[in-house]
Amino acid sequence: MSNKIIIAIDGYSSCGKSTLAKALAAQLAYVFIDTGAMYRAVALYFLRNKIAFDDEVAIVGALKNITLNFSYNAATLKSDMILNNENVEAEIREMAVSQKVSEVAAIGAVRDFAVAQQQAMGQQKGIVMDGRDIGTVVFPNAELKIFVTADPAIRVERRFLELQLTNPNISKEEIAANLQHRDLLDTTRERSPLKQAADAQVLDNSKMNREEQFNLALQWALDKIQH
Ligand code: DC
Repeated sequence: MSNKIIIAIDGYSSCGKSTLAKALAAQLAYVFIDTGAMYRAVALYFLRNKIAFDDEVAIVGALKNITLNFSYNAATLKSDMILNNENVEAEIREMAVSQKVSEVAAIGAVRDFAVAQQQAMGQQKGIVMDGRDIGTVVFPNAELKIFVTADPAIRVERRFLELQLTNPNISKEEIAANLQHRDLLDTTRERSPLKQAADAQVLDNSKMNREEQFNLALQWALDKIQH
């Protein structure tokens, strides 16, 4: 029962991966890592510092100046993204970053930078990590891989409800266009495209509530931990 495992959760944007990963980690007393937040923080740094996405020299130089950390926030019960000692958790979720992050995440040097840190975080196991390439590239030997999917219309609806809280002017059309754009870039990029690992368990949560999805994933996790 004390056998710690790595749980890799991959899937499309706004499928509820982070919510599931966070709940599983809390239940198992594991560390939860939202790798999308790392790519978002790098994208924010590039945007702020006007780093051209095709300028390899500038990119490599910029990455040397980026330190990423997670800091637990007792108010939200989750970790905030810290970029060079600044809490950027709110800013990395804004549309300006969402619109550019897939382009930044497609850059090889950015992926090398993020993946090395993610692999170091998993050395002790006891981790739930969510992203796009966790089961395929970051932890190809993860004991449990979950590939989360949901109907595109349902994803838009969920994201709309979430974003409306901070941005009352946001439209469903804008969200649908952003999700489609990100899915396309994430699945067609050359480096580590989003794809289901051959040994992943598929979790289509279109018709599931959070509790049903959590119970199913927890069962899968306990099966692996106990065997
Ligand atoms: O999960 P998210 O929407 O916060 O991810 C932001 C972007 O980062 C998304 O467009 C895909 C990319 N990403 C990635 O390429 N690899 C990961 N492991 C996690 C996210």
